[in-house]
This record gives sequence, C-alpha cells and structure tokens, in this order.
Amino acid sequence: MTRKVYILNGPNLNLLGKRQPEIYGSVTLADVQANCENLASELGLAVEFFQTNHEGTLVDQIQLARDNAAAIIINPAAYTHTSVAILDALHTFDGPVIEVHISNVHQRESFRHHSYVSQRADGVLAGFGVQGYDLALRRVATLLES
Ligand code: DQA
Repeated sequence: MTRKVYILNGPNLNLLGKRQPEIYGSVTLADVQANCENLASELGLAVEFFQTNHEGTLVDQIQLARDNAAAIIINPAAYTHTSVAILDALHTFDGPVIEVHISNVHQRESFRHHSYVSQRADGVLAGFGVQGYDLALRRVATLLES
C-alpha cells in the first residue's frame, strides 16, 4: 500500500508566485504541487496537496489525515504564529509532522519568530524557498522507513 502524505498549506499561499515575490519567489503553488507529486512517486509515497485560507478547514484536514495519512507536511502560513487550534489538531495525529516555511521567518518581523506548530513538529524547515517542500518529503520518507 502506498503511504500517503498530506501536504497542507495555509492562507495566501494560493497567491504564491504573485505575492511578495522578493520574499516568496516566482514559483506558483501549482508548480510546488507538481514537483511534490513527482518527487513523492520517486520516493514511493502518495501526496494529497491542499491549500485553504481558513483556519477551521486546516483543522478539518488534519483530522482527516488521522485516518488517511502516514505523515503531514504543513506550511500553516500566518496561522503558524497564532493558532492553538492547529497545534491541538496536530497533537491528535500520530505520524511524523514536518513544518515548512518558504522564507526564513527568523530573519523577519519578531511576530514571525514564534510558532505554535513547532511544539508538535518533528522537524522545521525555514528559508529554503520552495525547496523546503522537497526536503520535507525526503525527511518523511526516511522517518517512515525507520
Ligand atoms: C510563511 C511565513 C509566515 O510568517 C507567513 O505568514 C506566510 C508564509 C512562509 O512560508 O515563509 O504566509 O509560512
């Protein structure tokens, strides 16, 4: 059975490529999705790629992952810095959780330096651009092998 990885993206990431390209680059979220799907199949994984602008919808997806996914990769975007609800939902999930940020949040405004999600994440990638998603998938593959 192919192991499924949920890749969840929070608010405004639908505008990737158009939104502050000096910070987030010019690659679109559709490009990131295609790239993740290709890499996942090389790694023997399947991907469910999802974006929403709504906090509760991210909680719903994390709850769905409980029954359907072996691991979660999440870029919660601005909810990283505000959402106890997303942290609580992630605490109900048993598999590996990797947190991804395209930008180096620690080089930016101080309100971006704290992440609720990091308390649950098994690993955090920040500042690797969209390549962070690849690195997260490779890490998930390693964690699911062991
Ligand atoms: C982000 C960083 C967050 O601080 C910001 O709110 C985002 C994107 C990133 O990928 O660098 O929307 O998660």
